[in-house]
Amino acid sequence: MAVQELQDLESIAQALVAPGKGILAADESTGTIEKRFRSIDVESTEENRRTYRNLLFTTEGAEEFISGVILYDETIRQSADDGTPFPQLLAERGIIPGIKVDKGAKDLANAPGETITEGLDGLRERLEEYHELGARFTKWRAVITIGADIPSEYCLWTNAHALARYAALSQEAGLVPIVEPEVLMDGDHTIERSFEVTSRTLHAVFTELRDQRVHFEQMLLKPNMVLSGYDSAEQAGHDEVAEQTLRCFYRHVPAAVPGIVFLSGGQSDEDATANLNAMNASGPHPWELSFSYGRALQAPALKAWGGDPAKVEAAQQAFYRRAKFNGAARSGSYAPEWETAGA
Ligand code: 13P
Repeated sequence: MAVQELQDLESIAQALVAPGKGILAADESTGTIEKRFRSIDVESTEENRRTYRNLLFTTEGAEEFISGVILYDETIRQSADDGTPFPQLLAERGIIPGIKVDKGAKDLANAPGETITEGLDGLRERLEEYHELGARFTKWRAVITIGADIPSEYCLWTNAHALARYAALSQEAGLVPIVEPEVLMDGDHTIERSFEVTSRTLHAVFTELRDQRVHFEQMLLKPNMVLSGYDSAEQAGHDEVAEQTLRCFYRHVPAAVPGIVFLSGGQSDEDATANLNAMNASGPHPWELSFSYGRALQAPALKAWGGDPAKVEAAQQAFYRRAKFNGAARSGSYAPEWETAGA
């Protein structure tokens, strides 16, 4: 079905997790994209940001593996080199445009080291405008940090409450909510600790979603995978990550949810692909298991581009390659050898 004709929320949610496809998260806020550009020595001007997003969105064949793109407020109002507004360009290629609607994680009062995501005030009106601009789905990210005495129940439940308020408003506006509670994997914690915190987080999130009458069939969940902390001396392998992640999600995520679209969260692009592949290799599962990667889809493209107009094609090839590998991981048919075979 053409993107323009996708109206009911269940069809949009299912199209976003169509077999062999996943989501590109290109919704970096101005501060975050500045950080990414600094790593390749490119100045973060509005035009450079537009040029970079244009490169990604016009990559030939990307629609074979990319079902939707999450945009940022600035990007949804920008246009491609030929003047076509980005949401229209994507929709014409069969890619569903989405939008990040939260206003970022801010310090949570009386809770050192913890954050609450803001952006509920005026959200109903903003959602209406985004729908008019062509968005068909939305994203809201809550950030949970693991530390010696955190996360607190206070942090988990206030963030879960806000996520559910956002999700209900989004469905009301005719937009599929992508509910993103991200447990950060920074730190030296074990994979067992990641499991425990992810489990508590999902418990709070699904309790609030249910209490606030969010329709599970009309949403997607965007969580972290259950990993060893990045600074932990012991790093769980792909099979263990797949096993622990699945065990955690089987306990908490209703089968009515059409799909779980993982974030990459700072894993290497190869790990993000291999972990998703390992989970799908042991399928079928009650939900589609897919990707909504930012860094893990973009890192090689960003590096290949480096701000050089002559390198646009090379960057697009790098992006296409990662999209293809993750597309294969959707069915457990990716092979790590492809990384070195120049596939
Ligand atoms: P990463 O895949 O880089 O974690 O980004 C996904 C995202 O959208 C975070 O909000």
